[in-house]
Amino acid sequence: MLSTFSLFSTLVATLAVQVTALPSANRTGMRFMGANIAGFDFGITTDGVQDLASMTPPLSNVSGIDGAGQMRHFVQTDGFNIFRLPVGWKYLVNGTPGGKLDAANFAEYNTLVQSCLNTTAHCIVDIHNYARWEGQIIGQGGPSNEQFASLWSQLATKYANNTRVLFGIMNEPHDLDVAAWVDTVQAVVTAIRMVAPKQTILLPGSNYTSAGAMSTVAGPLLMDVKNPDNTTTGLVFDVHQYLDYDYSGTHTTCVTNAIDTYTPLAAWLRANGRQAFTTETGGGNTSSCVQYVCELMKFLNANSDVFIGTVAWAAGSFDPSTYELSVVPTRVGSTWTDAELVTSCLKR
Ligand SMILES: *[C@@H]1O[C@H](CO)[C@@H](O)[C@H](O)[C@H]1NC(C)=O
Ligand SMILES: *[C@@H]1O[C@H](CO)[C@@H](O)[C@H](O)[C@H]1NC(C)=O
Ligand SMILES: *[C@@H]1O[C@H](CO)[C@@H](O)[C@H](O)[C@H]1NC(C)=O
Ligand SMILES: *[C@@H]1O[C@H](CO)[C@@H](O)[C@H](O)[C@H]1NC(C)=O
Ligand SMILES: *[C@@H]1O[C@H](CO)[C@@H](O)[C@H](O)[C@H]1NC(C)=O
Ligand SMILES: *[C@@H]1O[C@H](CO)[C@@H](O)[C@H](O)[C@H]1NC(C)=O
Ligand SMILES: *[C@@H]1O[C@H](CO)[C@@H](O)[C@H](O)[C@H]1NC(C)=O
Repeated sequence: MLSTFSLFSTLVATLAVQVTALPSANRTGMRFMGANIAGFDFGITTDGVQDLASMTPPLSNVSGIDGAGQMRHFVQTDGFNIFRLPVGWKYLVNGTPGGKLDAANFAEYNTLVQSCLNTTAHCIVDIHNYARWEGQIIGQGGPSNEQFASLWSQLATKYANNTRVLFGIMNEPHDLDVAAWVDTVQAVVTAIRMVAPKQTILLPGSNYTSAGAMSTVAGPLLMDVKNPDNTTTGLVFDVHQYLDYDYSGTHTTCVTNAIDTYTPLAAWLRANGRQAFTTETGGGNTSSCVQYVCELMKFLNANSDVFIGTVAWAAGSFDPSTYELSVVPTRVGSTWTDAELVTSCLKR
């Protein structure tokens, strides 16, 4: 999710034609459907600065937010089978880039990962740092590629034996030297593969991983990122797409289903024999967002040879009564209630 001050204004909106019916998701489509369970990332800004005091782990015995209960509900009621679990680099290593995982901090994050795995779902470990550490770009004046690869080597070692864990290398890189960033991504892939040869790795491009920029800006360079055996098995492109007028994911009104953005991406992926995963999309609790998100899900499901999954932004520690893009399920007694976007467009 972008903050309003960091929009990429160069993308030109192409508004979708209004349709009257609200199509439901195609149940035979994408392999993965789920939600972000946010909170460990709270306090991280787009310059990669992390204010640890704002972190709100979605753990009932830490913040009172029952992230485990949310995930169980989503699996049982909505057929979700994947969750993305954002977390900050600084927290995991307790302030030292290149340092060892902090035992206590990792244990707290791992509680969330284990409660995700316990639901039988797949779980994405997402480093939510915008390609940065405290304002500086990794491998471009900030921490070295080796320091960042060290984080991933340690995380991959922890989860090497569970193929239901996916590695989301980095959330929303932006405003950097793309070729140099691709070198960073390669360093991480190589480090992960030394200990975890099988798991899916999500490759982040630039431009906040916007779906529109993937096939034109970072994707052609990311094509060169390889496993140590020179294959690209398990290397999937990570994309985000919001449907509000400036694509920032900060407004409750949606104006496009983004099919005009995803259509060329699908063609590019097919031409190159590759796949993408939409790890953030969503909308407000409004009829326009219900319409457009449903239309996008239908399209992605119909093109599930190249689009393997969608993870909605966001559940977890957000306050559903105030947060614009909440898909947080609310509970009264033992009864959970979903946001309309979930029941109308995402449930299956
Ligand atoms: C919260 O519960 C988990 C087990 O689910 C436990 O490992 C952890 O230590 C607890 N944390 C606190 C702060 O009590
Ligand atoms: C795992 O799930 C089972 C049932 O689904 C539940 O009884 C158990 O408490 C869960 N364990 C943890 C650590 O979340
Ligand atoms: C993963 O499994 C292998 C073989 O079963 C074992 O040698 C290794 O210690 C395990 N690693 C972890 C982190 O559990
Ligand atoms: C991607 O971001 C760069 C700035 O980092 C900008 O110059 C370029 O126009 C953007 N491209 C797209 C397609 O958004
Ligand atoms: C991978 O490709 C590089 C460059 O083309 C080559 O030097 C290397 O030997 C290849 N490695 C394997 C395992 O095929
Ligand atoms: C979502 O909107 C509906 C009305 O369209 C309203 O009844 C419901 O309370 C809203 N949900 C939240 C969480 O604001
Ligand atoms: C779902 O998508 C597939 C593949 O495009 C299509 O064959 C099928 O008819 C669709 N099903 C529904 C219910 O829309």
